[in-house]
This record gives sequence, structure tokens and C-alpha cells, in this order.
Amino acid sequence: MEEKKDKFAGYPEISNEEIDAALRFSCGQTERNLPQFTERFQNAYSVNNFYEPIDNTDWTNGFWTGEIWLSYEYCMDMAEKKGADGKEARLKRAEAFKAAASVQVESFYNRIKNKIEVDHHDMGFLYTPSCVAAYKLTGNKKAREAALLAADQLITRYHPVGEFIQAWGPMDAPENYRLIIDCLLNLPLLYWATEETGDGKYREIAERHIHTAVANVIREDDSTWHTFFFDMKTGAPDHGATCQGYRDGSAWARGQAWGVYGMACAYRYTGREDYIEKFRRVTEYYLNHLPKDLIPYWDLEFTDGDEQPRDSSSAAIAACGLLEMSKYLKEEEAAYYAGLARKMVKALYDRYAVRDAAESNGLVLHATYSNHSPYNTCNHYGVDECNIWGDYFYMEALTRLRKEWNQYW
Ligand code: GLY
Repeated sequence: MEEKKDKFAGYPEISNEEIDAALRFSCGQTERNLPQFTERFQNAYSVNNFYEPIDNTDWTNGFWTGEIWLSYEYCMDMAEKKGADGKEARLKRAEAFKAAASVQVESFYNRIKNKIEVDHHDMGFLYTPSCVAAYKLTGNKKAREAALLAADQLITRYHPVGEFIQAWGPMDAPENYRLIIDCLLNLPLLYWATEETGDGKYREIAERHIHTAVANVIREDDSTWHTFFFDMKTGAPDHGATCQGYRDGSAWARGQAWGVYGMACAYRYTGREDYIEKFRRVTEYYLNHLPKDLIPYWDLEFTDGDEQPRDSSSAAIAACGLLEMSKYLKEEEAAYYAGLARKMVKALYDRYAVRDAAESNGLVLHATYSNHSPYNTCNHYGVDECNIWGDYFYMEALTRLRKEWNQYW
């Protein structure tokens, strides 16, 4: 490996005690939320740091169920670890998490059976942390069926002309003929579906999409396009554009983080050596554009002094990607990326994590969902708030740091 300089050398890493404290608080917060958020779900973003309940109709619902499953895992592990004393109480807590998440699995089953708001590519975000997790952790057969139906739904969005999965909108409109970088995290669902069924069609489509995405979304300077359009007739690459970033040519902070985690998943599932180098490039760009406290502003164009909102959820996603990739690298490079992840999670824990339930019913403050700029097409909401995937990936990163995690993705 080329020698890498850690520009954050000297920054503290999160300790094992802090990881445990952060997970204890996160489980407590999740538990306090169950009465309000079992039949219904937490919204994608908070308002004044409090989530409102919503139905199972958004692309984001799976993250809340994922938080419940991560809480279940933590309680189960603690019950095993601490011996007889308190074991029963811990198992009881774990059972309550399992019961609540299982209610939500029913809701996901109903959603895919009845095709409620599933005409988009986010089947992985919806069904991986909810139903794949349920099946892996508890063997829930209905969860397996729901997740397989979601994989079937996802592959209906594949375009052989262009070889990609279309993100949003009707499939026959040129203005929708695009992929988006976020989709890399929807693909583990397809690999899982092939593993479960033995049918290679899911993996084949995932692989083609990854190849098209990697060839087009990573720019010369290693920043990434949020979205990339193709010619509907020929499938030829056409042009990149942002949706949620500041402007077309900038690097949306969460998009770059989806790229970091997405490339780690791409390598995990394909084993392609050239994807390791892509991972390094996308990651180094990300690291080189972080402000002093390691938590990016919502677009990597901005830095300290710009007075722009942060996106703490981007840091949580990137930390998970670094930890995932460090599993496959040689010792020195693995330690470099894992160390950076520990620093990012420490920064989240010290300065962004909720510490008091009176302050918020979420886990991580100062995330940005959709920030309107003069150059993008998105609406303005969830700016400088908690968001549900920021909370989920914070818990996932902590879990990855605590044990060898049998991942949902
Ligand atoms: N996948 C949509 C987002 O990151 O906002």
C-alpha cells in the first residue's frame, strides 16, 4: 500500500468504555421510544430534535426497525456476557425489542405484498435493516419472504439499456433515466436474495449496476456525482447532476459517504481488486475535505468558517464503510481506516450525540436531509436536525466497533 498520512493523527479514538456507554444510551433511548413507535415509525427527520410518528410509506422506515434490531442484539449480548446476575432482566428487554421489531416486520410484509410506495430503488434501505435483519437474527420466515419480494421489486427497475437500476420515477421518462450513488447500499439485498434462493439473476443485476455506477459516478478528482443520466435509446453515459448537493460539480457530503460504504460493499460482494483502489480514492477525497472536527458540512465544498449546516449522518455512514473495508485489507491499511472510523465515532459521541432524552428522542444531532440551494432541485427540510439513518448508522458503527458483527447488509 502507498503510505498514507493520517491528517487526523493525534485525534482521540473512541474507547471501549465510551462505545459501551453510547450503546447503552442508544438502547435506552430506543426503548423509551417503543410505546410511540411500534405500530408507527419515526419520521425521516426530526423537528426541533424530536421525531414525529409516521406510517410505513417513506423510503426511510427500515432504519428505525434496524435501530430496534441493533438494540435487541446489544441486550442479547449483554445478557450472555454478564452471567446470571441481571440476565433475566436483560433477556426480557431483548424480548421487548424483538416483539416490537416483529410487529414492524408484519408492516413491511404488508407493504411489499400490497405494493405500497415501492416504485423506487430504495428496497435495500427499507428491507435490509428490517426484514433481512429479522431473518438473520430470529429466522423469521415472513421477513425472508418480504425481503425476497422486495428484491424482486428492485430488479424491475433495471434497465438493460445502460445496465443500471433506475432510482426514481416512471421508467419510461428520459428525465428519470439515471442512477444515483446511494443505490450502492440497496444492492446487498440482491446479493442476499441470490444467496437465499440460489438464483443468480439478482447478483447479475447488482454486478452490472455496480460496474456502471463505478465507471460513471467517480470523477477525475475522486469526488462523486450524486446522480448520473444515460441516453434512453443507446444507454450511453450522458451527464452527471446533483439533486441533494449544493451544485452539480460539488461533492454532496452524504453522497460521498454512500460512495465510501458503497465501494466497501461492492468489494465485499464482487472481490474485484480494482474496487479497492476506487474505495481508496473516494475515501481519501472525503477525508481531505473534512473540517477540523471530522464531521462534514452538508456539502464537501464547505469548510470551517462557511457557516453552513453539518451532516453528521454522513460521518456515521462513512465510519461504517471504513470499518467494513478494513475487514478486507492488510494489517497496516486496515488499522489506518479503522483508526479513522474510531476517531469519527468519537467526534460524533463527544459533540453530536444526544445525551439527555429531554433534549431529543433521536440519537445524533446536526444532520442534514435536504437543503435547498440556488443550484439544486431539492426542497428544504430536515436541516440541522436528527435523521433516522444518521441514528441507525451511528448505532451500526458502535456495534461494529464492539464485536465482529454479522452484518445486515
Ligand atoms: N438516499 C437519500 C439520502 O441519502 O438522502
